[in-house]
Amino acid sequence: MSKESGMTVTPWEVSGEVNYERLIKEFGTTPISEHLKDKVKKLHPLIRRGLYFSHRDFDKWLEAHEKGKRVSVITGRGPSEKMQIGHLVPFLIAKSLQDEFKCEVFIPISDDEKFYVKEHLGFEDAIKFSYENILDLIALGFKPGKTFIFEDFVYTDIYKYAARIAKRMTYSMAKTSFGLSPEQNVGWSFYPAMQAAHILFPQFYRGKHMSVVPVGIDQDPFIRLTRDIAVHRDFNFEKPAALHSKFLPSLGGGAKMSSSEGNAIYLTDSPEEVKKKINKYAFSGGQATIDEHRKKGGNPDVDVCFQYLKYLFEEDDNKLKRIEDDYREGRMLTGELKALTIEKINNFLKEHQKRRELAKKQVDKFLLKNK
Ligand code: TRP
Repeated sequence: MSKESGMTVTPWEVSGEVNYERLIKEFGTTPISEHLKDKVKKLHPLIRRGLYFSHRDFDKWLEAHEKGKRVSVITGRGPSEKMQIGHLVPFLIAKSLQDEFKCEVFIPISDDEKFYVKEHLGFEDAIKFSYENILDLIALGFKPGKTFIFEDFVYTDIYKYAARIAKRMTYSMAKTSFGLSPEQNVGWSFYPAMQAAHILFPQFYRGKHMSVVPVGIDQDPFIRLTRDIAVHRDFNFEKPAALHSKFLPSLGGGAKMSSSEGNAIYLTDSPEEVKKKINKYAFSGGQATIDEHRKKGGNPDVDVCFQYLKYLFEEDDNKLKRIEDDYREGRMLTGELKALTIEKINNFLKEHQKRRELAKKQVDKFLLKNK
């Protein structure tokens, strides 16, 4: 947990100016080196373009794969609402790891977590959002038979693992990691055992092996806790590896794209909604007037549209470079950059929404069933 000098980064709250270098130091993680990036050039551009910036033992995971050992990927989703584009970040990496390394992917849906933590989220709504989110996840193209999705409230077999972990996790371990406070319901204190069960699930299910967890850096406290528990003699598992991402900025340019600001782009938005939101809210790195912009140029590093293109919607490195140069040197105006981004997002969403419809018939192929 980090809560200093205007920066708050916990699994349940991210605010202020996030200093990622400092998080690496405080959390004790490893920066992703150029050497490591070189080894995974074929993965989604999110890695080579730096949204993923830190890891734990990902080099060991790659090594295990090179030696022909079993490896897997596990990352989860807290279904507090409909999914928006920022929520795609861990799943795009999970999918590209699956494609590249032909490995299994496990996706727990923590409806219990969001039910405990979100004061106004009802039990039925948590379950409804889970279903809606699962459609979005399947639509990303994960391989049936190699991808296992489960919801805590439905795949209740997970409880048996959570209980075994809870027995080896003291209240003070959970408290140090998450800063629990006395007025919070006890669901908050138990949930860390559940998420540890998610992270170790591939090993409970398939036996001891290396898993990697692609995840926002705010989730690292869960990783640390789980790595400690993994090696307890009750389990004797491998410590799970992790890949940590920075936060995608919200439309207005804030620390994290969060829908509480009411202006996130949802995966179910219509082309008109996307156009309206980008034009109205997307924080721009452009100058106040066209003349000034032509003279001084814009700043793509703070421009939200450019960030979305860079991390999610423009896979072609050459095209991205041209957009960056044109914008920085004032040849491309903010209106033009916005129009381009709207078109790219809408093309992506059109395909996504088609696949999301088809996903409705595939759900059974992906969901784990209680034994
Ligand atoms: N807690 C995560 C979130 O709020 C979701 C999640 C549940 C998760 N289980 C997980 C993430 C296991 C990584 C691994 O976004």
